[in-house]
Amino acid sequence: MSFKSDTLAERMEHAHHPIRKLYPLAEEIKKSGVEIYNANIGDPVPYLGTAKYIVKAYCKALKDGKASYSRSPGDFEFLDEIAKRYKRLYNLDINSSRIFATHGVSEALIFLIESLIEKGRGAVVFNPYYPLYASTLKLFGGTIVLSTLNEEEGWAPSKEDLEGKIKKAKDEGVDLKFILVTNPSNPTGSMCSRKDLEDVVEVAKNNDLLVVSDEIYDEMILVKEKMTCIGEVAKGVPHMIMNGLSKNWGATGFRIGWAIIPEEDEGSKKLREGVGNLATMRLSASTPAQIAGIEALRNVKAHQRFLRYMVRNIRERAEFMQKRLNEINGVSCQKAKGAFYLFPKIDLSRTKFKDDDEFCTELLRKEHVWVTKGSGFGLGNHLRSTALPPVEVLEKVAQGIENLMRA
Ligand SMILES: Cc1ncc(COP(=O)(O)O)c(C=O)c1O
Repeated sequence: MSFKSDTLAERMEHAHHPIRKLYPLAEEIKKSGVEIYNANIGDPVPYLGTAKYIVKAYCKALKDGKASYSRSPGDFEFLDEIAKRYKRLYNLDINSSRIFATHGVSEALIFLIESLIEKGRGAVVFNPYYPLYASTLKLFGGTIVLSTLNEEEGWAPSKEDLEGKIKKAKDEGVDLKFILVTNPSNPTGSMCSRKDLEDVVEVAKNNDLLVVSDEIYDEMILVKEKMTCIGEVAKGVPHMIMNGLSKNWGATGFRIGWAIIPEEDEGSKKLREGVGNLATMRLSASTPAQIAGIEALRNVKAHQRFLRYMVRNIRERAEFMQKRLNEINGVSCQKAKGAFYLFPKIDLSRTKFKDDDEFCTELLRKEHVWVTKGSGFGLGNHLRSTALPPVEVLEKVAQGIENLMRA
């Protein structure tokens, strides 16, 4: 008996993450002892650390023997603290029984898609998008419908484009289930205005779609504008909010987050049932991480101190990088309003490279600069750089891009 090479299910062709594609080459370069200037992965922890008070809470939970399973939808106290957070930040009254603890937004996303999507169904995603949306939708047989964001207008969504894409997909027989917003956005660093979100909600309502908002960066706001949570503008309209500790607390490795499905319509009730059942299948979310999460949400002062430090550093780095990138001939970059990413457009016609994939590979090989290709986020002719490394490293990243643009 042999384990056959065709063992993997066909859907596995969609199980990948473009951000990780250049890892083997980067490892090879590192092994040869050469330093890499890394602006590839959106993990704040290596650069800015984790809020100390939640590390303490996590360790204490383990010392206190809190290492068993917890209830599948989530620890009661954790869910209550999540509900209070939404009252505090957005003046929303959320019943904690509408909240699920998840292993990050990643698991919330899987629960959502697994519950609603199968062959013949689909969802609308704004382009450029966070790559796991596309992979997960396709993994479950779904169709991804892309609505174009307007780069020149700071990556704003367009109501007309959204309506047009939905009509076209429906005409083609796709049974659409939801519209997914990322606010603030990875990869663009943009933030939706209240009006943008009201438009999305109106279109969703007119088309009987759920609105889903991935708000994992909702406290990493780099400008004076106010962040709007989808819950503020979607009252009475089916919606789902996804968030977690990964970014706002610098706790990516804790793997803890939440999904909120607050409304009382039949679809929301069914979705809660689906997500609840899926949550039982993985028994529970990490118990010590949820206990750390209680402290993360309760100790508002410590959180705000940490957040001020994070945002100050990220703002300085993002502003430096945007200015520096715009100095390069053939490169233009919008201002980041939130999160910690820049998504510059590169005019490849000035270079010898046929696409952004080739450009990024050569950038790593020749300049030892590691960024991600825009096409991994659905939009070629762009690069995604994080604004996490110190300015000296970002300067090397920008210099590498400049050298390659000139070559
Ligand atoms: C937009 C977006 N959503 C979700 C995630 C993953 O979140 P989590 O760590 O909570 O699974 C990321 C990580 O980079 C992200 O950029």
